[in-house]
Amino acid sequence: MPEKISNKNIVERSLASVWHPCTQMKHHEQFPLVPIARGEGVWLIDFEGRRYLDAVSSWWVNLFGHANPRINAALKDQIDKLEHVMLAGFTHEPAVQLSERLARLTGLGHAFYGSDGASAVEIALKMSFHYWRNCGKPGKKKFVSLEGSYHGETIGALSVTDVAIFRDAYGPLLNNNLLVPFPGSKKVDRLTTGITEAKPPESAANAGVSLENLLEARHHEIAALIIEPLVQGAAGMRMYSPDYLKRARELCDKYQVHLIADEIMTGFGRTGTMFAYEQAGILPDFVCLSKGLTGGYLPLSCVLTRDDIYAAFYHDDVSRGFLHSHSYTGSALACRAALATLDIFESDAVIEKNRDKAARFSLYAKAIREHPAVENFRHLGMIWAFDIKGTKPTFARGFFAASLKRGALLRPIGNSVYFMPPYVIEDDEFKWLVEQTIDTINEVCPQ
Ligand SMILES: Cc1ncc(COP(=O)(O)O)c(C=O)c1O
Repeated sequence: MPEKISNKNIVERSLASVWHPCTQMKHHEQFPLVPIARGEGVWLIDFEGRRYLDAVSSWWVNLFGHANPRINAALKDQIDKLEHVMLAGFTHEPAVQLSERLARLTGLGHAFYGSDGASAVEIALKMSFHYWRNCGKPGKKKFVSLEGSYHGETIGALSVTDVAIFRDAYGPLLNNNLLVPFPGSKKVDRLTTGITEAKPPESAANAGVSLENLLEARHHEIAALIIEPLVQGAAGMRMYSPDYLKRARELCDKYQVHLIADEIMTGFGRTGTMFAYEQAGILPDFVCLSKGLTGGYLPLSCVLTRDDIYAAFYHDDVSRGFLHSHSYTGSALACRAALATLDIFESDAVIEKNRDKAARFSLYAKAIREHPAVENFRHLGMIWAFDIKGTKPTFARGFFAASLKRGALLRPIGNSVYFMPPYVIEDDEFKWLVEQTIDTINEVCPQ
């Protein structure tokens, strides 16, 4: 007889066999792992039937709920046809259809696939550098990113990331890239990013001047500016004006520097438009996608770029080609999940409906905004965030545990609490989430 799985049993076995990501494993002596048996819409359910509302969309990936019947059906259909074939020298219908649809959505004609978000960032950085090399400018090999930026944790992606807790231990391994000021007013929590000075708020215009000064002085050695359009996620949902993106596009054009939009978190409607950069009326040279691309089902990432960049690699000389690869690049199953996700966007007019939903939800969240322990309440699209005043270093873990007790899955970043729920969340569920959040604030931060 196979052993019956219980919460206790799976947690013990997990601690004995799995090295969990983004975790100091010793903390699990105090904060138990959460066992999950199944998912249903916005809910995650353990082996004893206890339910948790996934208010962070499982690390920002889930769009249309767990075990979504339409994505499930597409995957069941695909699995009997083709699960995967290598994409070097071979092709298949889901990859072609997905590339065509992403090109129609963005106007960027060629799609290069990876697996996780960080692999898309690596691809975009390498492609940008290689493009300039192919164009006779091999000296353009540095990248610029914003203070507080997060682009993933492989070595290249970490080199353009400015979140101390992820970066510091590996500092000696990282390329020395260039940082420019964040164009917004919210201070960075130093526990999260390691930025210790409370810098005065930078207006988009001032931050644009700093960017221009850097590009003017060093453009001959800079390949690209990489940026999280409109919202820096891992820095604590820091939001900024589209004016800065517009200015960044102008300056990149002026100084012949690529603009890489890392839409890994912001893409697929999170900020209220399909892609955040649309709100600035610009087109980046590269767009990195992942997370919501498959509706939160399977690892898949993608870099989209302009046809003329693609053309610079098209040559008789093999070494001018982009020889980068991952074994699971463009997996047929993952591409099919992505197609099913795009079908839902189209058939359900998701972006439009989310606008009304978000307006209602912001009203429901009023009690949080007015809570005396809360400051810097902010909202964009399907993201709501706020900061808790005067927190201790252990705040995030304590808040996570206290909200979980009430059945709400919230993972603050530093002192910033945020909601980034799957789009299928109903009004009643959001109201319930607000109530649990207020109860948690009252428990964790008694006034
Ligand atoms: C903006 C951004 N870029 C890149 C990444 C890295 O993606 P992944 O964790 O899939 O490697 C993330 C992940 O949170 C992200 O938010």
